[in-house]
Amino acid sequence: MSTPPLSSATGPNQQGEDKNLDLTLRPRRWDEYIGQNTVKQNLSILIQAAKERGECVEHLLFYGPPGLGKTTLAYLISHEIGAPIKITSGPAIERVGDLASILTNLSNGDILFIDEIHRLNKLIEEVLYPAMESRTLDVVLGKGPSARSIQLELPAFTLIGATTRISLLSSPLRSRFSGGSFRLDFYSNQEIKKIILRSAQILRIKINDDAATIIAERSRQTPRVANRLLKRVRDYAQVQRAEIITINETERALEMLKIDRLGLENHDRQILDTIISKFNGGPVGIKTIAAALSEDPDTIEEVYEPYLLQLGFIERTPRGRTATTGAFEHLGKNPPRQNQNHLL
Ligand code: ADE
Repeated sequence: MSTPPLSSATGPNQQGEDKNLDLTLRPRRWDEYIGQNTVKQNLSILIQAAKERGECVEHLLFYGPPGLGKTTLAYLISHEIGAPIKITSGPAIERVGDLASILTNLSNGDILFIDEIHRLNKLIEEVLYPAMESRTLDVVLGKGPSARSIQLELPAFTLIGATTRISLLSSPLRSRFSGGSFRLDFYSNQEIKKIILRSAQILRIKINDDAATIIAERSRQTPRVANRLLKRVRDYAQVQRAEIITINETERALEMLKIDRLGLENHDRQILDTIISKFNGGPVGIKTIAAALSEDPDTIEEVYEPYLLQLGFIERTPRGRTATTGAFEHLGKNPPRQNQNHLL
């Protein structure tokens, strides 16, 4: 069964309680949104100015690694301008007709959020160009020599696109985000700690300051991970009948989840270990790493690699990925000797 093209719910891969919790935790106002200060400042001006002129906010593109708050920002903007948001994603729009139906069902001022916009197919992308530029939809009726094309006028809307892979976006599409493209960066540990304390307060979780620091340090500088770890530590503390989450519960829960002091999980360590043990530290191509781990190359590139790059544990070179000295040390392995020719 294919994914429904449109929804008003949260992102993919979430069900039940966690999905509801994430909705509760989502900041709805700028002053609740922690971090990403430059993006926040620029967006709030752009939105206020459009609001004052009584115009629709121009189309916006958010990009950066997963879990940094692209969807959250889209919801926040929808709340700020009081406009409904319709949610879809690149892979959910399979046919031109899907997009046509989404666009023609928008109302004036609506926000259309397309997640993973880099996965839209080319034909669909081309329908989007005139829709974004001049609010028109070209529809072809019939087939062959008798086919004719009509132009429908669309309501004023704001398209918010999100992608983890800006490099895969065609430049004609990129250039149509007239409001601008905004890059979300990894958060500092202090910002992540603030997010954890805010979430704990909303969820009525009692946690001490040191425990929040530890969760923050292991959250991969990513709010989605921070909130997930907070919930898992809460589960552990609850089962242990702990009144308040302290360092003890936190360390034990994270140890059980095999999350190390930098937030790496088994799979991250396997990626590093593959480069180091199987390919002598690299360089090795991403497809080769993926094949060695029976993993999808895109998943490695989109989900795992950004944080390993951020930590400086791997480097991208023209001949593939290499593990750095830091990665060897983190896994407790001896880094290879540097090229010592100069000593000879
Ligand atoms: N939850 C997810 N992202 C957040 C952020 N940037 N600030 C506060 N809470 C968040």
